[in-house]
Amino acid sequence: MKTMPQVTLPDGESVSAYGQGTWHMGESRNHFAEEAAALKLGIELGINLIDTAEMYGNGVAEEIVAEATKGRRDALFIVSKVLPYNASRQGTIEACEKSLNRLKTDRIDLYLLHWRGSHPFAETLAGFERLQRDGKIRHHGVSNFDRGDMEEWARLDAGKSVASNQILYNLTRRGPAFDVIPWCRERNISIMAYSPIEQGRMLGHKALGEVAARYGTTPAQVALAWLLRQDGMIVIPKASLKEHVRENLGALDLTLTADDLADLDRAFPPPKGRTSLGML
Ligand SMILES: NC(=O)c1ccc[n+]([C@@H]2O[C@H](COP(=O)([O-])OP(=O)(O)OC[C@H]3O[C@@H](n4cnc5c(N)ncnc54)[C@H](OP(=O)(O)O)[C@@H]3O)[C@@H](O)[C@H]2O)c1
Repeated sequence: MKTMPQVTLPDGESVSAYGQGTWHMGESRNHFAEEAAALKLGIELGINLIDTAEMYGNGVAEEIVAEATKGRRDALFIVSKVLPYNASRQGTIEACEKSLNRLKTDRIDLYLLHWRGSHPFAETLAGFERLQRDGKIRHHGVSNFDRGDMEEWARLDAGKSVASNQILYNLTRRGPAFDVIPWCRERNISIMAYSPIEQGRMLGHKALGEVAARYGTTPAQVALAWLLRQDGMIVIPKASLKEHVRENLGALDLTLTADDLADLDRAFPPPKGRTSLGML
């Protein structure tokens, strides 16, 4: 069982810096058991944070999470998301209640607005506040928010307690390091790095392979270790295959040196200026 590195949320609560993603789970009922088993293995190996969303598998991913977490809910930190189309005050409350039913739990630990839509932030926040008062969500956050969106959200009273911003961030997508990440870090707002291995597309990169070879590790472990060494960063790789769950966890045992980091910087240069936030 691995010991998880921790990230501190703005209210002082500690959460794991390593979690399991669930996008594309639940898209075929045939894989339900296999996907639940992968999540369950992750939990047995010590991963206690799971990221899901009402969107994933049209709600079935949340049912898979329920299956995987049966009997161990209290030890886990569950993140889910409301779709922007549902994010009016009442729509947010109703979407959350449906997620709670599918997740077979009475609370979501962190509930995110999946991306910015047409409902005013004040509406979504009114829904989040109500859900928090009723104990149905413990923290609220956002996703796919660039710096300007964060500023706008945090200008509203209820938005000041935003706990996390979940964004596309990995070695091949370093743009957010220029402004939205520092902005969040200054305010202790955690960053959840999604698609941390670029959905597998980055794994054949020569530089990743070279660093991995120095330690007898794998490119995925190097890509995850690079994220895990950053303050306030939560990584949420998704793996339906048990061997991927095990392999990715190996990133926790890898400490990259200054030379490794310099080599990675050469291959994947840090941003020199502002770029708009990518989204998958
Ligand atoms: N907020 C948002 O808008 C947003 C957007 C995207 C993602 N997310 C969240 O972030 C999570 C992670 O992102 P992601 O799923 O897009 O991408 P990812 O975690 O970068 O990559 C997942 C893909 O890589 C494969 N994989 C995992 N470990 C591997 C390994 N060691 N070697 C080779 N292939 C490996 C997986 O295969 P198998 O499944 O077959 O094992 C899967 O196809 C999502 O699942 C979701 O929870 C959020």
